[in-house]
Amino acid sequence: MTTTTTYTLIDGRKVSNDIKAEIAAKVAERKNQNKKVPHLAIILVGDDGASQTYVDNKVKACKAAGFHYTMMRFADTISEDKLMKHIDQVNRDEDVDGFIVQLPLPAHISVERITEKIRPDKDVDGFTNRNFGSIFSKNPLLMPATPYGVMELLRRYNIDTEGKHCVVVGASRIAGAPLSMMLTEQGRATVTICHKYTQDITSYTRQADILLVAVGKPKLVTADMVKEGAVVIDIGTTKVDDPSHKNGFYITGDVDFKNVAPKTSFITPVPGGVGPMTIASLLLNTLKATELRHP
Ligand code: GUN
Repeated sequence: MTTTTTYTLIDGRKVSNDIKAEIAAKVAERKNQNKKVPHLAIILVGDDGASQTYVDNKVKACKAAGFHYTMMRFADTISEDKLMKHIDQVNRDEDVDGFIVQLPLPAHISVERITEKIRPDKDVDGFTNRNFGSIFSKNPLLMPATPYGVMELLRRYNIDTEGKHCVVVGASRIAGAPLSMMLTEQGRATVTICHKYTQDITSYTRQADILLVAVGKPKLVTADMVKEGAVVIDIGTTKVDDPSHKNGFYITGDVDFKNVAPKTSFITPVPGGVGPMTIASLLLNTLKATELRHP
């Protein structure tokens, strides 16, 4: 069997920067027209290092796009009831167009209760049942940010999903589950979802025209699991401590990139693939929420 040696590296950083520039231009235009500037509020509970990094990047992106933002931090000892009250307050704050509660939350707080407390028209992560369900609507409201970013990457690289076999590994509420729904509904693909209970995952991944992996296990996907010429989208992000790296850690995905890439037609790197797209989606959703509230 011959091995593909040239593949296209999907540059999420570039696409994300393109989208952010488009958003910044739209915000500048709104300012010129004296229309409301998008305002994103971010709630961060506790001091998880990775969450802090993600939130810093979200704040940076807000600044670059010309958005207003509010950062709300709470100790990890905050009670669920108290956090619910703060969410209520942000729900009612007329100036806030969109807001997110950064995950994970401490174990004593129910993610589902907190998520469902967010007003769907301000839920710019697209986590509420209302927005999740609207994937199947002709007029979707706010799409879950990570899968929205993946769909946008595929679209901008002209990777057609219609009638293709997409195999999604991982069925999380943030990524795998909504992504499989979007690929089915908007992408018109045939979709197989694999998760931690799936037996013989390789028998499924090897069938994939497009393989999308969102598990959080470095090197889960090895070259023998991938069909020749497949498109591989790596949504995993794992922080690995390593003193030999500049920051004392590095970020890696779920795919054994070095050995898998030569078999593919297109592949996303980690970092620099799907990650930057999640922030672009968040900004797109916040702009959309603002446009809906203040046309
Ligand atoms: N934690 C990891 N990814 C995300 C995300 O997209 N949104 C929020 N709120 N928390 C996360």
